[in-house]
Amino acid sequence: MNANDKINILLIEDEEYDVRRVHNTIKPFADQINIADVVSDGKLAVELLGEKTGLYDIVIMDYQIAGGLRGEELIKKLKLIDSSLQIIVITKMTVNLTNYDFARSLIEAGAFWYCTKYPGDIEEYIYQPTDFILSIFNANEKRKLLKEKQISKLKLKKNVEDIMQSKKIIGCSPQIQNLTEQIKKYSNSNVNILISGFSGTGKELVAYNLHYSSLRKYENFVTINCGGIPDQLIESELFGYEKGAFTGADKNKPGLFEVANHGTIFLDEISELPLSAQVKLLRVIQDGEIEKIGRTERIKVNVRIISATNKNLEEEIKAKRFREDLYYRLNVVPIFIPPLKDRKEDIPVLIDHFITNFSVDMGREKPVIEPAAMKILVDYDWPGNVRELKNFVQRLLFNSENIIDRTLVEMNLGTKGLTGWNQFGSDGINFKMADGIKTLKEMEKLLREKYFKFIREQSISDAEAAKKLGLAPPNYYRMSKELGLK
Ligand SMILES: Nc1ncnc2c1ncn2[C@@H]1O[C@H](COP(=O)(O)OP(=O)(O)OP(=O)(O)O)[C@@H](O)[C@H]1O
Ligand SMILES: [Mg+2]
Repeated sequence: MNANDKINILLIEDEEYDVRRVHNTIKPFADQINIADVVSDGKLAVELLGEKTGLYDIVIMDYQIAGGLRGEELIKKLKLIDSSLQIIVITKMTVNLTNYDFARSLIEAGAFWYCTKYPGDIEEYIYQPTDFILSIFNANEKRKLLKEKQISKLKLKKNVEDIMQSKKIIGCSPQIQNLTEQIKKYSNSNVNILISGFSGTGKELVAYNLHYSSLRKYENFVTINCGGIPDQLIESELFGYEKGAFTGADKNKPGLFEVANHGTIFLDEISELPLSAQVKLLRVIQDGEIEKIGRTERIKVNVRIISATNKNLEEEIKAKRFREDLYYRLNVVPIFIPPLKDRKEDIPVLIDHFITNFSVDMGREKPVIEPAAMKILVDYDWPGNVRELKNFVQRLLFNSENIIDRTLVEMNLGTKGLTGWNQFGSDGINFKMADGIKTLKEMEKLLREKYFKFIREQSISDAEAAKKLGLAPPNYYRMSKELGLK
């Protein structure tokens, strides 16, 4: 075992005689416990710990130490430098064995344990050796646990920072500034939020930002697309079921509300939630309890609900497809994301952001976009909003060299409007040979991917896109996922 694997101790003791006794007490375990340094006053100890943070696992300190800095004050200073450090205090025999106030004040200051030194005539030991050694091992276990906890907290923090980096809201318009201010404002509250806006405006992105900037950011963020799950399954998805609740329920299934407990649930395309599930959701919001299928007693949950819609819910209420009472519960704070055509100053910033990111992904130089080309893009209406813009920039990068000029933009924008895919000709399909021969499977995948994207850009919701493609919404959702579009 080398010094790094041993329990390293900083000993603060000003009497030579007691330093010897401590050494002697732990001698039988010298292969596991190492007195790394000995100092005779508190200030020196603080300095040393500052220089060698992380080196010591445990401090053994005399209570009545020479110099100004001592006792509880010293314990607090040491813990401030390294909060996982464990401190064992040794005091003179003059301390009354039943002085609980003294013991409490040491522990409150941050000490792990304390003991009273043996009388001076016991030359060999500072304290009952097995107790002393055991306390050192226990203190070290506590130190290890605390360090692990600190590391996993750091990792979680790093994860959240990474997510926030990849989900940055880009834009410089007053509307986007207002949006980021709203997110900041609501980040520390638990109010339910309803995000509305046309397709591709960034509703899901905003939901991510709301969760990961909230106090719940280290808890789960669970998303569900209410239009992507068949009506008869949605309740069991949301609320779960108990084993044996119905034929086929061969094990307990936790609902998404349980999974999201203490965190956030994002109910996307909320207008598609069937009426029966709307009733249950209302109850969850009112009582903070879920009713699992096949279980009599209810389960308490604490979940923040963020929902999103690209439909006008007030119209849905009028048409009796959405419950008014639920609407008010979900819409405590409304956030509306305006379409891209109403905030044109965001277009160049978004284009630059996507060009930079895609160029890095593709390992290519970032192309320059000519002002005339940019003007066309700013003037364009972007019915599919930021999603359409993002896909367009990606397509542009595949087709461009180092300069993106007006002709290239016109060509890509123009054909897109006509057929959705410039490899289709008016007489059917043209094939480009530039990419080499593709297998039928590869070609089919390419076709599906491009066609799905195209249809989605032209639709206001997943449900509408599914309808246009002649697919049931769950199938549409699954296929989009398989194609990497979700
Ligand atoms: N302001 C923005 N900054 C950066 N990226 C954005 C912005 N707005 C949207 N995006 C990107 O555009 C794409 C579409 O956004 P998102 O999925 O959040 O839209 P949506 O409103 O949920 O659309 P839909 O109603 O179709 O579900 C995503 O890739 C998202 O990251
Ligand atoms: Mg969405």
